[in-house]
Amino acid sequence: MQELNEIKQALSGLDPVQKLQYLAEAFSGRVVFSTSFGWEDQVITHLIFANHIPIKVFTLETGRLFPETYYVWNRTLENYGQPIYAYYPQHELLQDMVNAKGPNSFYESVENRKQCCHIRKIEPLKRALQGNQIWITGIRAEQSPNREDMHDLEWDEGNQLIKFHPIFDWSLEEVKDFIRKNNIFYNTLHDRGFPSIGCAPCTRAVQPGEDFRAGRWWWEDQSKKECGLHHTAEEVVAGKE
Ligand code: ADX
Ligand code: SF4
Repeated sequence: MQELNEIKQALSGLDPVQKLQYLAEAFSGRVVFSTSFGWEDQVITHLIFANHIPIKVFTLETGRLFPETYYVWNRTLENYGQPIYAYYPQHELLQDMVNAKGPNSFYESVENRKQCCHIRKIEPLKRALQGNQIWITGIRAEQSPNREDMHDLEWDEGNQLIKFHPIFDWSLEEVKDFIRKNNIFYNTLHDRGFPSIGCAPCTRAVQPGEDFRAGRWWWEDQSKKECGLHHTAEEVVAGKE
């Protein structure tokens, strides 16, 4: 893709802040960042807010987040005094699902789990991305074998926009270092064995030596453990959305 290559060239040699600044200017008003308030996202939120980069920050409020996550959200609003926009599920879809299947249907089958993720995350995500050209995320290559195959800048076929992961190549140690040095507020669950934090009923702590995402949807097959927020182009073409 011509445009993607041009952006790649423009970004080469820049640091993460400069990259975000470039994108915010080149795609003015059409750049958004999604935060789940994890380590990586707190780093990017800091880069955006501390440098007053005009990128809209949003979160998908599934209604099932950990109390600790809401606390980080609130502290982040207080610390930076800048808005974080919440996108909620459509209440009728949610109501129908819960009335038909109960509040914890996701444990019963992969279909039910995907339906819940669709209603609570994917549909709201579509609304959040609507009309935008660049979607910033906190994905790092190290997080899973799937993600190692991704690139820091990529075309998102499903959402028809460009995704950019500013700290894609950072190691966990680099992320932690940055947080320490910049005194960034972070989720205390990270100190209690949660390298990756999603919804409370679907995330557990991992044991030493287990991989980053072992605690996410732990009752399912390894191969099914993405919620559909992030798909590779190959998966979209293969209809695995
Ligand atoms: S997930 O697909 O398994 O849920 P993960 O938790 O690894 O994703 O997070 C990767 C990136 O997806 C985050 O850095 C963030 O940009 C985005 N993300 C995940 N969950 C949310 C959420 N609830 N709200 C907003 N963004 C999210
Ligand atoms: Fe539902 Fe669990 Fe997906 Fe959250 S992670 S949207 S609770 S299935």
